[in-house]
Amino acid sequence: MTWSDREIAALVQPDRAHRKAYTDPEIFDLEMERIFERTWIYVGHESQVPDPGDYYLAQVGRQPLIMTRDSDGKVHVLYNRCPHRGAQLCTARKGNAGNTIRCSYHAWMFHLDGRLESVPAADGYDGTGFGLDNPDFHVRKPLHVDNYRGFWFAAIGGDVPDLETHLGAAKTAIDQLIDRAPGGKTEVVGGCFHMIQKSNWKIFLENQLDASHPGATHESAGVAARSVENERRQDGREVPIEYSFLSDFARLGVDGWDKFGTVGYSRGHCTLEGYMGLRPDDPDTNEYVARMYDAYGEERAEEILGINLHHVLIYPCLSIQPMLQQLRAVRPLGPDRTLTEIWHFRLKDAPEAIYRRSLAYYYLVNSPSTLVNADDLFNWWKCQHGLASEGGDWVSFHRNAGQDLVEGGVRRSAPKSMSEMPMRHMMHAWRDYMAAEGAGQ
Ligand code: FES
Ligand SMILES: [Fe+2]
Repeated sequence: MTWSDREIAALVQPDRAHRKAYTDPEIFDLEMERIFERTWIYVGHESQVPDPGDYYLAQVGRQPLIMTRDSDGKVHVLYNRCPHRGAQLCTARKGNAGNTIRCSYHAWMFHLDGRLESVPAADGYDGTGFGLDNPDFHVRKPLHVDNYRGFWFAAIGGDVPDLETHLGAAKTAIDQLIDRAPGGKTEVVGGCFHMIQKSNWKIFLENQLDASHPGATHESAGVAARSVENERRQDGREVPIEYSFLSDFARLGVDGWDKFGTVGYSRGHCTLEGYMGLRPDDPDTNEYVARMYDAYGEERAEEILGINLHHVLIYPCLSIQPMLQQLRAVRPLGPDRTLTEIWHFRLKDAPEAIYRRSLAYYYLVNSPSTLVNADDLFNWWKCQHGLASEGGDWVSFHRNAGQDLVEGGVRRSAPKSMSEMPMRHMMHAWRDYMAAEGAGQ
């Protein structure tokens, strides 16, 4: 079928969404066209291309892109497509191209900013309209490319607000990834995990702010970790903070997650308040706080460290855990296939132990092999199967529906609730992107 705006808008109701929004291939194609190729999507961090000549591949919507760094140190984002006969220019996920990118097909050479540098046997083009200065023969760039403090985004097309306006309040996530560094800089460490989820991209985003699932889904991981903690305590051994990354799931139980508020901002961005005790009175943390005081002064350092956010979603493409220096980028591949890139960062001049905490969280909670992620993945796969069936048409987001507190365009979950406000909020943003004309009907 061909979907009208009115039909698309009808897939989203105040407290539920229709399963077709998650399963229909045409809806998926429209999502790529109207969301992922019409708004700001994360490409990568500047530290992925630290040296001149470095490149890194990324996918925005259906478009293959390359992030490069030129000899002046400037970052560029280009299509991964040769202007000659269309070959992909780079196929390795990352590398160093030297001074120029050379297309392997007929050896056209390009500067790292996409300008054509040379072609072999150039006299064959005499009198043809071909020329090194002709932009038709340069590697094309997305319509909009910009960065916020070294985090690069591209908008393939469309009429977008400037990047900072688009990020709005959600830019706190990026500020926190940087400002928590006493040295005022952050960098990716190593590569990232690439994980293909056999489920729709919206299911992943909805799960990130779903306070009602950890106590159930992650109960087994939490109980196992807590028993190890207890054994260590009984033996008089130390219990490192990293154990709490898992045991917190048991500590809070199935219905103990109602203390943590969620907030929805314009364009679908959302936050979940922090619940973890990440500032224990131990030598590593105290050393870190001392370095923050030295770098920023006590007042500013406390202001930075006082922000307590567990998750920030930059809709539709990023899930950031700023206090743990984690970032997950969402790259939809199909209605039932989603690639996530799972990154972690090092805070410049923070004690090594603080980096080790970030790495431990990366391995224990976010890596593909952890029990936590495996349990999540299994649920999402099961949801996708259920939604593909004729067993029901609607996905329920009724928990605390009608109780959101709305002020100044900001939507807060009802106090003391495990509200499904973020899911409702994101689906309403989805409807606005997908069916602007039908949204009011
Ligand atoms: S396709 Fe790239 S040089 Fe021919
Ligand atoms: Fe989970």
